Amino acid sequence: MSEVSRQSVVRTYDRYAPYYDMLFGPIQRAGCRQMASVVGTLAPARVLEVGVGTGLTIGRYPEAAALTGIDLCPRMLALAKQRASALPQREIHLALMDAESLDFADGSFDCVTVPYVLSVTPNPERLVAEIRRVCRPGGHIVIVNHFTGSRFWRPMERIVRSLADRIGFRSDFDYADNILRHDWTVLSSNYTSFVRLYRLVVIRNG
Ligand SMILES: C[S@@+](CC[C@H](N)C(=O)[O-])C[C@H]1O[C@@H](n2cnc3c(N)ncnc32)[C@H](O)[C@@H]1O
Repeated sequence: MSEVSRQSVVRTYDRYAPYYDMLFGPIQRAGCRQMASVVGTLAPARVLEVGVGTGLTIGRYPEAAALTGIDLCPRMLALAKQRASALPQREIHLALMDAESLDFADGSFDCVTVPYVLSVTPNPERLVAEIRRVCRPGGHIVIVNHFTGSRFWRPMERIVRSLADRIGFRSDFDYADNILRHDWTVLSSNYTSFVRLYRLVVIRNG
């Protein structure tokens, strides 16, 4: 798996921030919408979104849920805060924090969402350990991410593989190594669209 450092995540997303919604919004929208819809069916009281970015999904979560969003990159988070200020009726807390070292007590959330972050964070295993700790036992973890495996995307994955540290995500991210190897329960795993770029994975914690 390609190496990505913490500094490069902050530097890269700091650069992307002003253009992020325009560049990535359209290709990631279906995944965000489906993820929020799954969260709606789970009806959690407390939701944590790790790597909340510019807050593209925050307005889509169920209204009754108290939402906490964290991100490593101050510029991305500043944009999420602007978005949240347009939703004054919602309970939304946003904080600068590393998802690999979360400042929350064990079992603080009923549901943790991880949209387009697992292959970005420097150490995905540490992130998984942390989200499992702060998600209550029996709670849900919802991941949207690109995983290698599709023949259609393989040539592109090869081309950008060595650039992971500069482009801010790994293209060579394996489903078995990063999802199936953990002793959690995968409830469903589906592509978010026919182009098979991203998967939506719904997991029960424990
Ligand atoms: C591809 S963007 C996704 C943003 C948002 N989830 C969305 O769906 O638009 C990845 C985000 O994850 C954040 N990130 C990466 N590693 C992180 C970590 N260890 N802790 C917190 N945020 C992290 C980046 O700063 C960036 O904002």
